[in-house]
Amino acid sequence: NDLEELAEQIDRDATAVAFTGAGISAPSGVPTFRGDDGVWEKFDEGQFTYGRFQRDPEGFWDDRVDLQRELFGGEYEPNAAHEALASMGQDGHLEAILTQNTDGLHEDALESVRDDASATDDVTATDGVAATDDATTGTSEPTLLELHGNSRRVRCVDCGKRVDGDPIVERAADGELPPTCDCGGVYKPDVVLFGEQLPGAVIQQARTLARKSDVFLAIGSSLVVEPAASLPRIAASNGATVGIVNLESTPVDSSAEVVIREDVTEVLPHLQSLVNAD
Ligand code: OAD
Repeated sequence: NDLEELAEQIDRDATAVAFTGAGISAPSGVPTFRGDDGVWEKFDEGQFTYGRFQRDPEGFWDDRVDLQRELFGGEYEPNAAHEALASMGQDGHLEAILTQNTDGLHEDALESVRDDASATDDVTATDGVAATDDATTGTSEPTLLELHGNSRRVRCVDCGKRVDGDPIVERAADGELPPTCDCGGVYKPDVVLFGEQLPGAVIQQARTLARKSDVFLAIGSSLVVEPAASLPRIAASNGATVGIVNLESTPVDSSAEVVIREDVTEVLPHLQSLVNAD
């Protein structure tokens, strides 16, 4: 079947790249953006534009506190889909994970797979020396690109310092509007806002990875905003096999060889087990 063919191709040393959206974190409880329960049903995108941040940082932050609580108020954990991608990356079957999500759950999953690998090494290492590097463990590290930034952090617009976002959001909630850095600069969530350009180097790297991929998997994204809409098309036009895993149809389905309309937490662990079984 389709998934088996994808697994076979990935196993034949193909360069595989995963591209993810809010749908991969939905089973962890993180709300998606579009759809009936989506964030944009409750909030107006216009409140969170870059233009508003520049014009009215006080009002922006006042609203952002509510959005931040809605989006990231819970203690979210990576789910089986994040874990399957992380394991495939560590097994050398996935070159990169590109994500539009700012929830940090791919990083958490990679960290936990890393911890598991080094715990195993601790047990098997000889001479009492834990084997931790790639050469001795046989593990590899996929590239993780967070295209829209990371909501757990804030960044000072003047000095560029990045710090943990939670205490800063708390300060804003307590009335420090807008919250500012020691240098006097205003903090901005370390994410790409509407109307703000994606960093050039990041988008360039994403395009390069899409171009060189043999298998490009678009997972849990409506694929309607840029660069989500164009990355799978770039991959397809450079000869990659494009697979889409999403509950709903997307505008890119017609460019994909494989379209699977099932839950990510079913499909990705299954794919991982097929790749490992080959
Ligand atoms: P969307 O909310 O637009 O799309 C999420 C997709 O995931 C939908 O098509 C759902 O059908 C699908 N989905 C939900 N749960 C799923 C599951 N368990 N298994 C499989 N599919 C599932 O989110 P994105 O495409 O990520 O930008 O949105 C892209 C960008 O638009 C976001 O990064 C954000 C937003 O405005 C910024 O904040 C800059």
